[in-house]
Amino acid sequence: MFLKYYSRMKTIIEPFRIKSVEPIYFTTKEQRKKILEAAHYNPFLIQSKDVIIDLLTDSGTSAMSSEQWAGMMRGDESYAGSSSFYRFKKSVQNITQMPIIIPTHQGRASEKILFSIIGGPGKVFLSNTLFDTTRANIEYAGSEGIDLITEAGKHPHKIAPFKGNIDVSALDEAIRKYQPENIPAIILTITNNSGGGQPVSLENISATAKIAKKHNIMLVIDACRFAENAYFIKVREAGYTDKSIISICNEIFSHADVITMSAKKDAFANIGGFLALRDPDLAQQARNLLIVTEGFPTYGGLAGRDLEAIAQGLEEIIDDHYLEYRIRSIEYIGEKLQKANVPLMLPTGGHAIYLDAKAFLPHIPLNQYPGHALACALFIEGGIRGVEIGSVMFGKYNPDGLLISPPLELVRLAIPRRVYTQSHMDYVSEVIIDLIDKKDTIQGFKIIEEAPILRHFTAKFVPYSNQSYV
Ligand code: F0G
Repeated sequence: MFLKYYSRMKTIIEPFRIKSVEPIYFTTKEQRKKILEAAHYNPFLIQSKDVIIDLLTDSGTSAMSSEQWAGMMRGDESYAGSSSFYRFKKSVQNITQMPIIIPTHQGRASEKILFSIIGGPGKVFLSNTLFDTTRANIEYAGSEGIDLITEAGKHPHKIAPFKGNIDVSALDEAIRKYQPENIPAIILTITNNSGGGQPVSLENISATAKIAKKHNIMLVIDACRFAENAYFIKVREAGYTDKSIISICNEIFSHADVITMSAKKDAFANIGGFLALRDPDLAQQARNLLIVTEGFPTYGGLAGRDLEAIAQGLEEIIDDHYLEYRIRSIEYIGEKLQKANVPLMLPTGGHAIYLDAKAFLPHIPLNQYPGHALACALFIEGGIRGVEIGSVMFGKYNPDGLLISPPLELVRLAIPRRVYTQSHMDYVSEVIIDLIDKKDTIQGFKIIEEAPILRHFTAKFVPYSNQSYV
C-alpha cells in the first residue's frame, strides 16, 4: 500500500493530541473469570468499567474532536427548521450529492423505515453481505436477505484487494431465480462489516448499479464506513490514486438510489444516522414513518447538537492523512499477528482485526462456538472485549434443531476511532499471541438461553464442560 504520511519503518504517530482522558481500570485474571461468569459468559453483558481495552465495536465509540464539541455548544435545539439541521444536510450532501436527506437516531432506524416501506412477505433482498441489524430489519418486515459475497471473500487468508465485492454473476443468477419484481433492492455494504471489513471496488459498485438499473431494482448503499472504503479505492483501484477522497465518495454515491447510514462510524459521532434518497415519493413515505417513530424531519430522533457533531465529523473523516493513519494502524496490528502465525482475515480491513476462530481453535466444533470461546478467552487473558461474528451471531437451526453455521467463524476486534494509541494496540497483539500457546486449554460453550432474533446481544452461555478454559 502506498504511504504518503507514514513510513513502514517508523512508529505510527497518531495525527491528534489528547485533550481529555478517561481512566482505564485494570483487573486481574481471577477477577475477570468471575466477571465473565456473572455476565453469563456473554461479553455484551459485561460492564464497560470491567473491560481494559474495549474493542466490542467502533460504533458510537469515537473520540470527538474539539471542533465537534464546539459544534455541540452551537447546536440549535429548535423543534422545527433548526439551523443545525441545515448544516448537517449540507455536510451530508457534500459527500453524497443526494437531493433528500432525512436524519435518524442511528443506522438501524434508517433500515427499519426503509424496509417497512419496500419490504414485506415474499420479497427478497440481495447483498454482498448484510450486517446483522440490516438482515434483522429485512426479516422483521417478512422478507428474505441473501448474501452473494465474491469468492475471494469466503477465504479468510486469501489476499485480494476487494474482498467485500458482490459476486456479479451470482447476482445475475439470483435475479433470474427470484425475478426482478420480487426484489425491491440490492444492498451494498461498504465496507463489508460482517465479511471482515473488506472494501468494495468502484468497478463492482458500478457493475452492480448497471444490473440494478437494467432490471429496475433499487440500489441501496449501506454507507457506515464509506470513507474507509473510499480510501481503499484510492490506494488499491487503478485510476483513483490521484483522486481526492471526496471525489471518490461522490462517485460511489452517484450510483445509489438510497443510502442508509449510521453516523456512529465514519462520522465520528456518538449517535446518529440518516437516510439519503432521490425519489420524492419514497422520501414522503419515509418522512411519514419518521414522524411516528423518530421525530420531525429536521431532527429525526436527534438533538440539534448531535446534528452539529455529525456535520463536523463528516468534514473530518474525508481527510486523507487521517484515513492513511487509520488504515495503516490496523494493518500494523495485522503485521504483528501474522509474524506470530495468528490466523486472521487478510488483508486487514478498514475498522477491525478479524481473528479466524476456526483456524485458531480447530479442536472446538462449530456447535460449541469457537468464535465465542475465543472472545471469552481474550477477555479472561487480557481484559480485551471483542465480538464473535460467526455461529452465535448468524447461526440458524434446521428443522431438527441442528445448528446451521455461516461460512466464516470470526472474532472481530473493532478499533474505536481516535481512542487508543499504539501502545494499547501492542498490548492487544501481545495478549492474542500469548493465547496461541494456550489454545488447547480453551473450551467451547453451550447456549442456555437465547432470543429468537439478534440472539448474540442477550444469549446466556455455560462452558461446554466445567473445566477451567484458560
Ligand atoms: N450497517 C452496518 C454495516 C453496520 O456495521 C451497522 C452497525 C449498522 C448498519 C447499524 O447501525 O448501530 O447505528 O444502528 N454496526 C455496529 C457494529 C453495531 O458494531 O458493527 P446502528
